[in-house]
Amino acid sequence: MNKHGNSVKAYPEHVLKATCVSCGADAGTSVFAYTCPECGANLDLAYDYDAIGAEWKIDDLMANPERSLWRYAPLLPVHSPPNNCSLVVGGTPLVRVERLARHLGFENLWIKDDTRNPSASLKDRASVIGVQHAGELGLSTIVAASTGNAAASLAALTAHTGRQAVIFAPVSAPPAKLTQILQYGATLVPIEGNYDVAFDLAHDAAERFGWYNRNTGINPVLVEGKKTVALEIVEQLAWKVPDFVMVPVGDGCILSGVYKGFYDLLQLGWIERMPRLVAVQAEGSASVVNAFSEGEREPQPVAALSIADSITVDRPRDGHKALRALRDSNGCGVLVSDNGILAAQHELAAFSGIFAEPAAAAAYAGLKVCQATGEISPDASVVVLITGSGLKDIPAAQKSIQLPAAIAPDMAAVEQLLTRSGVLE
Ligand SMILES: Cc1ncc(COP(=O)(O)O)c(C=O)c1O
Ligand SMILES: [Zn+2]
Repeated sequence: MNKHGNSVKAYPEHVLKATCVSCGADAGTSVFAYTCPECGANLDLAYDYDAIGAEWKIDDLMANPERSLWRYAPLLPVHSPPNNCSLVVGGTPLVRVERLARHLGFENLWIKDDTRNPSASLKDRASVIGVQHAGELGLSTIVAASTGNAAASLAALTAHTGRQAVIFAPVSAPPAKLTQILQYGATLVPIEGNYDVAFDLAHDAAERFGWYNRNTGINPVLVEGKKTVALEIVEQLAWKVPDFVMVPVGDGCILSGVYKGFYDLLQLGWIERMPRLVAVQAEGSASVVNAFSEGEREPQPVAALSIADSITVDRPRDGHKALRALRDSNGCGVLVSDNGILAAQHELAAFSGIFAEPAAAAAYAGLKVCQATGEISPDASVVVLITGSGLKDIPAAQKSIQLPAAIAPDMAAVEQLLTRSGVLE
């Protein structure tokens, strides 16, 4: 019997351990622990790669018609895929962006377009696993603290599967994200405070009311959903590993998820090397990148402020794993200014047709910085992870464009405007 009152094992047989990233203790796989019982640090799930690899071959995967992330079920920490979820999470396009590449002077550039998930962000990958895991533990109420996307994502998945979501979000979150949450019918607890305050409150509420906690920063299951983006990238590149993957970083969970996906494939022997992971942060929210450049193992808190709300985080909750991902992939960190993010957002949209929210556009802004510093050379193959849609924060996107003044409805005025904008000579 677990503390939630049922006897289902927390994890399936192919999860061997839940290892503490700090002291190395094993929290076990029978009873679900969010964090290390010895020291409170985050946990990392370890798989039985020998058993998985013996039963599951690349050919099996290639023959599987499932397009969603459930095609990677043998590498996921739940007993079975959901039987109540028809929303397609994952399976997003890896877009070869030739015009953007030419503009930038790169030869091999891809965008992994995770705006194409059901709630328009990568967070759906974590939510769909979390909702299924909660269900397997017999829990129907799920709580999340979020800068917006994780909450909107959880709300979409709970709406679809008939569970209850309680969301703690800063009242300052972009209105589109708060609107999504309410449209999906979740209970919203708007907090007069920032994401970090909402995170702590959601954590306490989960403990107090016995809810499932979908906070990626501490729940080891969720990163396993995020890793599927890396599994897809490799499969979409026909089992070739890119030289670099650009990842926007707030709490660091996406970064550690991306690392875990490549790590799994290395362990299975399906790839031969890691790509170099590049953590991109806003200058005003630079905790992970600062810690990496100073060689620290844990990020120090900052007073975060940036236009890119989704990566504006005082205290990165998965900082330890994020820093390990950078070290172990021979990666690096890069900082981008808010103006750089806004310019990158517009350039990305105008040269690729992919409209990213500021946090996601930061990944592309980071590539431009790395090109300028020579960190990434133009003949490298690069995947830029676009984690959320530009439609989620229109006021931010409006800062880098100018809506032309309305004209009188006659052809002379049309010609004047077209001449001014360069369409006509
Ligand atoms: C669109 C988007 N990009 C990047 C991130 C950063 O992810 P993480 O906090 O896991 O580092 C988030 C997190 O909210 C996000 O919503
Ligand atoms: Zn520990």
